[in-house]
Parts: sequence; structure tokens; C-alpha cells
Amino acid sequence: MNHRYRKTIIAGNWKMNKTLTETKAFAEEIKPMLGKPKWCEVVLCVPYVNIPAAVRLFKDSRIAIGAENCHYESHGAYTGEVSAEMLKELGVKYVIIGHSERRQYYNETDFTVNKKVHAALEAGLYPIVCVGESLEQRELGVTMELIAYQVKAALAGVPADKMRHVVIAYEPIWAIGTGKTATAEQAAEVCESIRVVIRKLYGARVARAVTIQYGGSMNAKNAAELLAQPDIDGGLIGGASLKPADFTTIVNAANQE
Ligand code: PGA
Repeated sequence: MNHRYRKTIIAGNWKMNKTLTETKAFAEEIKPMLGKPKWCEVVLCVPYVNIPAAVRLFKDSRIAIGAENCHYESHGAYTGEVSAEMLKELGVKYVIIGHSERRQYYNETDFTVNKKVHAALEAGLYPIVCVGESLEQRELGVTMELIAYQVKAALAGVPADKMRHVVIAYEPIWAIGTGKTATAEQAAEVCESIRVVIRKLYGARVARAVTIQYGGSMNAKNAAELLAQPDIDGGLIGGASLKPADFTTIVNAANQE
């Protein structure tokens, strides 16, 4: 973390979890626990149907609400889809783009990720762009090349002045939901390399200011060590974001001066 140059962001990714009733119970439990973190921004990315309630429930807190996906068009004949504009109007601030589960199960490609990043920025949302290698790719030794490619493809055509709205999340696929976390060194190495890619694309000032998260089995126990790495500016947290006490511990680890 480096509060001097950039925002630390802890974002929960609920995936397809929690009903409306469970969302209300979560909010009641976590609000008094969390208080008002000073040094980091806290985000909860929740299923579409829970967004209006979540926005209302967290209105007076420092927790911003995010979505887990959006479509790349602003409107049209796309049955079952939701646009970035629709999310913006509900009070959504962030949107996860290109999560590996969407790449794996819903044919999300680097091309659609790029289109969605543009759509999100156009609508005034902050995209959290996910990149990450599979275990096979790591073992082949192509992690850095692959991540550089994914970052460049996702950001193609994004002008420098929009980059202060973009968050990058490095999520090694083999660490997601597996309980197998990347070591702090592995995570830091890739996050640093992402900043190098952004420096080459946009220059040192933009690179210094961009928030780069780590995600993949981050939890109450390992968060502090991961977040202590200079190029890891927060986390994208799945499983542990469903439990108020665990999520609060992670936020507290990020909220160090
Ligand atoms: P996990 O998920 O924390 O459950 O590994 C992270 C993510 O998918 O964003």
C-alpha cells in the first residue's frame, strides 16, 4: 500500500451469494463493526437484484456499492443483460469487469472486457478490471507476458485522463476460491509488473496513482502481509467478504496509516 500516491480499495465480490434478507442482515451486522475507515475505500459488489437495497442500507456509511458485471452497450435487444448506465442511475460506483469466472463460464474475452471498460467509464462508473493466469500458464512461465497482454487489451483506447477511475485486480485463477493464496512475493511481483505496463502506456504519474488490487483467497489471516507489499493497493475478496467479521478484519488491515 502507498497512501501517499493512491487509494487503497478493499472490495468484496459476493458472486451469486446472499438473498435480499441476507443482505439486510449483513448490513446490520457490519455497519457498527466497520465504522468509517479513513485510509481505505470499502466497496461491496453484490448481485444485481440486491443493488437498490444495498445502496439504501449503506447510504450513510463509507461503503460504496459495486456491480459484478455489466453489458457493453448502453441499451438494446440483449435479453437478461444490464447496462452500465442502469447501474449508475441506481447509485452504483464500481463495476467488476472480466472476472475469471465470467471469462471461463460466459465467454468473456479480452475484446469484450475492453468494450465493457469503455462502457463503464462512459457511464461514469469505476471499472475494477480483473486479470490473472491459470495454473497451467504459471507453470509454463508465461505469467508476466499474459498479464501484460490482458492489461493492454483491457485498456486499449482508454485515455490517460480516465485512468484515475480505473482499478486493476490481479487475480491468479488458481488462487480463486481454492484457499490457495499466492505468496506475498508472487502477488507483489505481478502487481509491480502491472504498474510497469501502465507506466509504459501512460507514464509515471498515472502509474503511480493507479490502484492495483490482489484477489484470490485473501482472508482475515493473510491480508496484512499481502497489503504490506508496496504495489498491492487493496484486495478483491470473494469468500471472506461474505462474513462481516472477516471482511472487517481485512478492512482494518488496509486501514493502517
Ligand atoms: P476468493 O474470490 O476470495 O473467494 O478466492 C476472489 C474473487 O473471485 O474475486
